[in-house]
Amino acid sequence: MILTGAAAQRNKVTASGSGKSATRADLLLAWYDRHRRVLPWRAAPFETADPYRVWLSEIMLQQTTVKAVGPYFLKFVARWPTVTDMAAASLDDVLRMWAGLGYYSRARNLHACAVTVAREHGGVFPGTEEGLRALPGIGLYTAAAIAAIAFGRQTMPVDGNIERVVSRLFAVDDELPKAKPQIQQLAATLLGSSRAGDSAQALMDLGATICTPKKPACALCPLNGDCAARIRGDQETFPRKAPKKTGALRRGAAFVVTRGDELLVRTRPAKGLLGGMLEVPGSDWLVAHDETVARAQAPVLKSLSGWRRKTGTVTHVFTHFPLELSVYVGKVPPRTRAPEGMRWVDIATLDDEALPNVMRKVIAHGLGET
Ligand code: ADE
Repeated sequence: MILTGAAAQRNKVTASGSGKSATRADLLLAWYDRHRRVLPWRAAPFETADPYRVWLSEIMLQQTTVKAVGPYFLKFVARWPTVTDMAAASLDDVLRMWAGLGYYSRARNLHACAVTVAREHGGVFPGTEEGLRALPGIGLYTAAAIAAIAFGRQTMPVDGNIERVVSRLFAVDDELPKAKPQIQQLAATLLGSSRAGDSAQALMDLGATICTPKKPACALCPLNGDCAARIRGDQETFPRKAPKKTGALRRGAAFVVTRGDELLVRTRPAKGLLGGMLEVPGSDWLVAHDETVARAQAPVLKSLSGWRRKTGTVTHVFTHFPLELSVYVGKVPPRTRAPEGMRWVDIATLDDEALPNVMRKVIAHGLGET
C-alpha cells in the first residue's frame, strides 16, 4: 500500500537515543533481527523460505497455538518433505497425522491443496496472493502470509496478534469485527520497503511475546515511544470487541463398547463437523436433549449384557457450541460381530487413528476406573 504524505509522516518516529528519524517499520525490523523466535518452519536469517513449509505452518497455525503446532509440523515434514510427497499420500493418512490438532476441515483442505499444487502447478506454489487464494483452504489471511513470508510480496497478513498490536499502537476505538478494514490499513503502514515477511513475523512475535493480551511488557517494546494506547494508559482494553455469541449447549450420549482389547468405532460422514474422523457410536447432539431418547440410540449388540453409565460427563467446546456427553460402557464376548457400519479397532493403536480430541476424552472417560 502506498502511504499518503500525512500517513508517511505519522509513521516517522524517533529512535530513542539515536537522534535520527526511523520509521516504525525500521524499528520493528531491528527488533526482529535481535529477538525473533526460532520456530521450526522459519527460514534462518538470509535463508530462502520454502513455500511448502510456510504454507503447511500457516494452515496448522490457523486456530492453533505455536506450541501445539511445533511437533505436528516436524512430524509432517519428516513424513512428507515436499508438497508432491503429501499429494501422493491418502486423505486418511493425512487425517491420521492431523488427529489432535482440531478443526479437521483444515486437514481435508490441506490434502486437496497439495493435490492441486502437484497436479495443476507442477508441484510449485503460485507466488501471488491471487494465485494462492484460488487453492483449497487458503483464505485472505493465509494467502497474504504465504505471499509475504515465502515470496516477499508487499502485503501484511493480519492475525489476532497483529490486530492487538495495531489496535493498541493506533488506539483503534472501533470494535472488532467492524474495525478490521481500518486495522488492515494501519498494519500495512508497518511494512518495511523490503522484507515484508519479516515485518509480518516481527508483528506476530511482538504480539506473542511483548504486546500480550494481559500485562503487556511495554517497557521492552520497540514501538513504545509512540504507542497511542500506552500514552493513554489503557492498552489492555484493546482490541475492542463486540461481545461473542456462543451457541447453546448441546448434549448427547456416547457408547464405549469393548471386546477384549478392542473398541467399537465408526467413521463420521465425510462432510460436516469432524467429517471423516473416527468416533465411538453415539446419539445425536441436541439442545433439546432427552437422556432416554439418547440412550435408545445405543448400538444393538446381541451379546451385550447391559450398559453402565459412567459418573460425570465429558465436555468439549467447539467453535459454535459447547457439548456435554454422558458416557455408557458395555462389554461383549470375543467374536461378537460389529453392527453394520461399525468396526473393531485395537485400543493399543488408537493413537494412530484419526480420532478427534472430543473422542479421545470420551474414550479415556469410558475406559477409566470410575
Ligand atoms: N502465527 C501464524 N503464522 C505465524 C508465523 N509465521 N510465525 C509465528 N506465528 C504465527
